[in-house]
Amino acid sequence: DWTMDNLAEQKVAEIREQVGEDRVILALSGGVDSSVVAALGARAIGKQMTCVFVNHGLLRKGEPEQVEEVFTKQFDVDFIHVHAEDRYAELLAGVTDPEQKRRIIGTQFWNEFFAVAKQLEEDGRPVKYLAQGTIYPDIIESGARKTGGKASTIKSHHNLIPFPEGVHFDLIEPLDHFFKDEVRELGLALGLPEHIVYRQPFPGPGLAIRIIGAVDPEKLSILKDADAIVREELDAYNQRLFEETGERNSEHSCWQYFCVLPDIRSVGVMGDERTYARPVILRAVESSDAMTADWAKLPYEVLARISGRIVAEVPGVNRVAYDITSKPPATIEWE
Ligand code: XMP
Repeated sequence: DWTMDNLAEQKVAEIREQVGEDRVILALSGGVDSSVVAALGARAIGKQMTCVFVNHGLLRKGEPEQVEEVFTKQFDVDFIHVHAEDRYAELLAGVTDPEQKRRIIGTQFWNEFFAVAKQLEEDGRPVKYLAQGTIYPDIIESGARKTGGKASTIKSHHNLIPFPEGVHFDLIEPLDHFFKDEVRELGLALGLPEHIVYRQPFPGPGLAIRIIGAVDPEKLSILKDADAIVREELDAYNQRLFEETGERNSEHSCWQYFCVLPDIRSVGVMGDERTYARPVILRAVESSDAMTADWAKLPYEVLARISGRIVAEVPGVNRVAYDITSKPPATIEWE
């Protein structure tokens, strides 16, 4: 609508004015907020903005390709895809403690990110500004976050960013007065695809905290495949509800949905053969702010389809369980 278009133009003008001829760097996660900042930056300053996409190998199936597609083909920014999958795999090998996983992933993220900034400087393209997708609720909550170490390291309030010695950036936070709904509207006005604008929340540490116990390539592959099926089925389910109710997050639609891979096996049977394979746990919740959540009362036929498809299509899985716990006392994620 026209107000969002005006607001977009106003933000674009502000960024141009602030940045002048200088270079801006952005940690682009593929989430809504950083993607909207990238889209704004593309319109305001084009290739003066370097978008760093650190691929830790823990994203959902197809996601790195989608992010790369949007920010190389559709938007005119300087896009850098950092392939850090092997480095993360090595750092995470054998690590089972959830908070240790988070620390390793968060710390390595900044190592990768600052390495790019340093390289730009060495190439004679020094960075003056760091753009961030901080939104208004982030600022309000950062004082009062009760999840402690679980807050996003990417979006955490800027004083938490561990700048290396001697490194300084001025900050650009064009969304700091926006609520989430407004960020989505702005994203649509800027031409971002709906799969980014309506993307469900996804934790910074990615699939590592959905694999109970140590992360390894086989478990990652199982989880990615099972998760892709869950998303396909529940995206379609949400879309049907949206068409019926006109609401994106209606009373019965799910807000966040994914699979968890526990570190156990269970007995099953396939043909005449006994199997001893992995279960996956389906988690689907209704929520508005993630502070509280209720398990989604999905229709049996939707659950049946998801279960049937996962055991048929994902090798190594012989059982699907559904988590029917609300938050509190559980949390949305398992780690
Ligand atoms: P919990 O599991 O605490 O999750 O109920 C609440 C919301 O936060 C997300 N979450 C994270 N996001 N880094 C993030 O950026 C994290 O370490 C993290 N842990 C949980 C979770 O997906 C849910 O939306």
